[in-house]
Amino acid sequence: MAFLLALDQGTTSSRAILFTLEGRPVAVAKREFRQLYPKPGWVEHDPMEIWESQLWAAQEALRRAGVGGEAVLALGLTNQRETTLVWERATGRPLYNAIVWQDRRTAPLCEALRARGLEPLFRERTGLLFDPYFSGTKLLWLLENVPGLRARAERGEVCFGTVDTWLIWNLTGGKVFATDPTNASRTLFFNLHTLAWDPELLEALGIPAALLPEVRPSDGDFGETLPELLGAPVPIRGVLGDQQAALFGQGALGEGEGKCTYGTGAFLLLNTGKRPVLSEKGLLATVAWSLGGRATYALEGSLFVAGAAVGWLKEVGLLRESREVEALAGSVEDTGGVYFVPAFTGLGAPYWDPYARGAILGLTRGTTRAHLARAALEGVAFQVRDVVLAMEEEAGVRLKVLKADGGMAQNRLFLQIQANLLGVPVAVPEVTETTALGAALMAGVGAGALSPEKVAGRYREAERFFPTMPEGRREALYRRWREAVERTRGWAKE
Ligand code: G3P
Repeated sequence: MAFLLALDQGTTSSRAILFTLEGRPVAVAKREFRQLYPKPGWVEHDPMEIWESQLWAAQEALRRAGVGGEAVLALGLTNQRETTLVWERATGRPLYNAIVWQDRRTAPLCEALRARGLEPLFRERTGLLFDPYFSGTKLLWLLENVPGLRARAERGEVCFGTVDTWLIWNLTGGKVFATDPTNASRTLFFNLHTLAWDPELLEALGIPAALLPEVRPSDGDFGETLPELLGAPVPIRGVLGDQQAALFGQGALGEGEGKCTYGTGAFLLLNTGKRPVLSEKGLLATVAWSLGGRATYALEGSLFVAGAAVGWLKEVGLLRESREVEALAGSVEDTGGVYFVPAFTGLGAPYWDPYARGAILGLTRGTTRAHLARAALEGVAFQVRDVVLAMEEEAGVRLKVLKADGGMAQNRLFLQIQANLLGVPVAVPEVTETTALGAALMAGVGAGALSPEKVAGRYREAERFFPTMPEGRREALYRRWREAVERTRGWAKE
């Protein structure tokens, strides 16, 4: 029997899922790794922990299924995007910790680029804007702050990569140094229109081209794994960023189809077909995938904190386990007037304020941890509404249903809150592990075992949550939310 192995390297854990060719999960393995916060607003990962936890998960999934690498037709890789790594070309040794997408240290660099009047050019070519979220300024920071790095980079001794590139390098023993257009489109120096690194943008940023990996299609040939890693060499045939993988896994292959994935952050993507749509409302244009030599694009609304808000409740001791949030938040009717703006790492779409910080407003003597838990869930749902409104304005259409997936899509209370605060039904698919599924299906397409048409037709809705909140109340709550957001703006700017 032939399987597809998906590696899903996320922000807080590395996962591997073995799927049948029909997309049925057979075995899962997951390992969490450390989050490093060296300074307020900084977030790092140890590159070796990323690699070792991911390799462990892959080996463990195969072990649990009782099969070896020879049973795997193809491996699909999907990953947290934008997170930036540099390593030594000769040895593969990391030269700094991975700077995570949530890291805010480059806010001043973004301001400096904006002051040079460069934003319109970058926006038009990359679909992005100047925010610390993207890899470009993180790489710039590394070149300016790691002693000797720039000189070595110019001599061709250093590799830059997002997490996909780092894992492909390690899986192939340094033979393949490559990325795909979805990951490349999050760097700030990849041209959306030519689907290549942009020499003019690289020059404007001062980034040596010698650092960069080759860009191959999402369904391309990324070599094969070293035989000793998974018991036999396994072909790597699908590579794409985790949000794009979730869009693919939801079967949203047609223009106008979209999804919202609740992971560490929450990310809404709308398939815009064969052309990038440049946003006026704080959304991003990005590559959805390149398949059969042709690119499909998406409009994206990125929220930096979703599951991370629940994670924070646990870190400060309000929950023992993340899954307790549903029962705790459900033990009260409402938040008792509490608003929780989870801007821990600034605000993403549509605000783009790297200096915003989290806030809890409206506390009274009667506030309990249940109110705080509920306010955290509402804070995520309100942010999604912010982005949906921006997308509706941009696209000139009303959303009929929000297709949800990811970790929080297993929280039924949250889905009901989301439907109530959005005023739109929320649907969940049978397989909520959509990200890994998307990577596996992409590998299946890359290996020639599946067709995109087959992927598009496989979405099965499991359940739908309908809004039950009166319109007047929804609007009143939302007005207060917008006020609460305003109070967090610019907080960390000295
Ligand atoms: O852009 C960041 C995103 O790729 C992270 O996804 O699933 O780790 O929240 P996740």
